[in-house]
Amino acid sequence: MDKVKDFKARETLITGAGSGIGRATALAFAQAGARLWVVDIRLEAARDTAALIQAQGGVARALQCDVADVDAVQAMAAQVHDEIKALDILMNNAGIGSGGRFLDTTIEAWRKVMDINLMGVVHGCHAFLPAMVARGKGGHVINIASAAAFVAAPEMPIYAASKFAVQGFTESLRGDMAAHGIGVSAICPGIINTGIVASSLMQGALGEQGRQGRVEAFYKKRNYTPEQVAAAILRAVRRNVAVQPVSPEAWGMYYAKRLAPRLVDKLAGVQLPFLK
Ligand SMILES: NC(=O)c1ccc[n+]([C@@H]2O[C@H](COP(=O)([O-])OP(=O)(O)OC[C@H]3O[C@@H](n4cnc5c(N)ncnc54)[C@H](O)[C@@H]3O)[C@@H](O)[C@H]2O)c1
Repeated sequence: MDKVKDFKARETLITGAGSGIGRATALAFAQAGARLWVVDIRLEAARDTAALIQAQGGVARALQCDVADVDAVQAMAAQVHDEIKALDILMNNAGIGSGGRFLDTTIEAWRKVMDINLMGVVHGCHAFLPAMVARGKGGHVINIASAAAFVAAPEMPIYAASKFAVQGFTESLRGDMAAHGIGVSAICPGIINTGIVASSLMQGALGEQGRQGRVEAFYKKRNYTPEQVAAAILRAVRRNVAVQPVSPEAWGMYYAKRLAPRLVDKLAGVQLPFLK
């Protein structure tokens, strides 16, 4: 299979690039010479990322799009394909966090998170892969899953379900796209210091006053940066890695699930300190 090793002039689109991992990865790809399409549901945030790239002498265009809205994603793809034949790199990154024990979750919350975290990834692939395949010059798809795709904590049934699904879809797509020379990678970051907790949909005890702040404080204290994740993503694309755990805890969960599944099962009932 072809590998995308050199990012010079590669047309690269990243969803959720207005913040966190998406923004850091957009900047890293731009520094490596890629031409960026910076997408976010918040246009101002996408514009800020594009401005940061342009200030460094890079090429970036900001686009507004809600990845949960299939028509909006198709319209965005049409706009991109008016200017270029196909993307070289597609990164489906937009996502939201969610927490709360199953009995406290609403069906509305399930639909909302699955529409963004899972269907957003599917919409992106559906809109951009046909042109990549038709062009016949390979490329790469990066789907942002999570360490929650290895171990599903009781506090995050919706999030874990969405990320297990992204992981499964990515594995299937990887085998499918191999024949077209298109690499496909799932990235499983770990606990990363971004805005994700602040914008998470929390229900039940986790939604109570003060709890979200404690989780945020824990993520800040852990302080694994989105820039570290971005560097791992570029490496994973160069090597066409299937599944890329990033932070030490992500690697720990990856191996624990494989080597000690009974221990993981036992620990499932233990509450994390910041959730008490
Ligand atoms: N931060 C972590 O610890 C962590 C860990 C594992 C996986 N992830 C995953 O990484 C990805 C990026 O998260 P982050 O941590 O950088 O969070 P973030 O909140 O900093 O960034 C997410 C971005 O996505 C955008 N977005 C949200 N909904 C959208 C939609 N419907 N359409 C388009 N854009 C939308 C937001 O406006 C925001 O700019 C997510 O898929 C998340 O699940 C994060």
